[in-house]
Amino acid sequence: MAADPSPKPLSADVPVLRWEEPPEGPVLVLLDQTRLPAQEVELVCTDVHTLVDAIRSLTVRGAPLLGLAGAYGVALAAARGFDVGEAAELLAHARPTAVNLARGVRRASKAHTAALRAGKSLEAAAAAALAVARELHREDAEASRSMARSGLELLERLVPGGGYRILTHCNTGVLVSGGEGTAFAVALAAHRAGQLRRLWVDETRPLLQGARLTGYEAARHEMPYTVLADNAAGSLFAAGMVDAVLIGADRIAADGSTANKVGSYPLAVLAKHHEVPFVVVAPMTTVDLDTPEGASIEVERRAAHEVTEFPPSGGGGFPLAPLGAQAYNPAFDVTPPELITAIVTENGVLSPIEAEGLASLCDRSRSG
Ligand code: MRU
Repeated sequence: MAADPSPKPLSADVPVLRWEEPPEGPVLVLLDQTRLPAQEVELVCTDVHTLVDAIRSLTVRGAPLLGLAGAYGVALAAARGFDVGEAAELLAHARPTAVNLARGVRRASKAHTAALRAGKSLEAAAAAALAVARELHREDAEASRSMARSGLELLERLVPGGGYRILTHCNTGVLVSGGEGTAFAVALAAHRAGQLRRLWVDETRPLLQGARLTGYEAARHEMPYTVLADNAAGSLFAAGMVDAVLIGADRIAADGSTANKVGSYPLAVLAKHHEVPFVVVAPMTTVDLDTPEGASIEVERRAAHEVTEFPPSGGGGFPLAPLGAQAYNPAFDVTPPELITAIVTENGVLSPIEAEGLASLCDRSRSG
């Protein structure tokens, strides 16, 4: 179906991801993020293969939400009588960079296995996996609230005087979270406090998560926002029009190196040059102490057609490059700790970025 060219009024609330139990059996319903902002269409997943495809195609995306999708996916497999071990493998490896995905899958699988080992029925084991997915969902919403609070306090310290002009990249709001998101949630808190002068939204080539999705969210909240081509960011810094950069993360290594949507690292370099704070906002589920440093993070490489065609449809899109052109298309890049001013988590704010400090934030999760 062709996309509706006229932006329709945005609906009050289409849940991003929800579990339903119609008589035909449980389903996971996803807001199809590939169709936004033109259409609010849902995808109903009755099986794990559909969900894995949805993860790969970015129908459902963003690190924290991938964690939820993974956990609910295990619950779906269990409730629908699929092989849970096989489902967990497929889901955990659907995309490699956001550590939340494998972590969500693991947490739900563990609950399922523990229930079976305790002699519970298949139904009870499926219910245990679902309970974990729901718990993760609640925890993510709570983490989001907490990051928004601490992120706003940090902004007040870093940029005295308020009236923030915030630059953000990719999409980090309600579309990636059980709550209102990560970096976007901080910008939203600033807006609600009457302190957001401008949200600069990098369009985020090639899949345009910034223009399409952050634009969609900012419009829903009536925030003052402006979309820019990624390569226009430098001139904004040069003109002194950025007070802070706020981004999310897909994986934070033990040394604080942060993988996020490709294009984040150049913003960090620009921010350093122009002495603008560069702040990462991410829940603890994104911190991975088993990944020692940035170079150990597996960066997803995506298909050439995402860069060489528009829309990036995989055949039939308008050609942006000669037929057969090769394309370099990493989905993420890694920002080293020395370029990051602070990392905001629900367990506290880390600044400067040091391995010991990050490890002790993780300890707070374990002891909490
Ligand atoms: O490829 P995507 O759209 O899943 O990438 C998402 C991002 O890079 C987000 O910035 C990241 O997941 C942080 S969201 C809290």
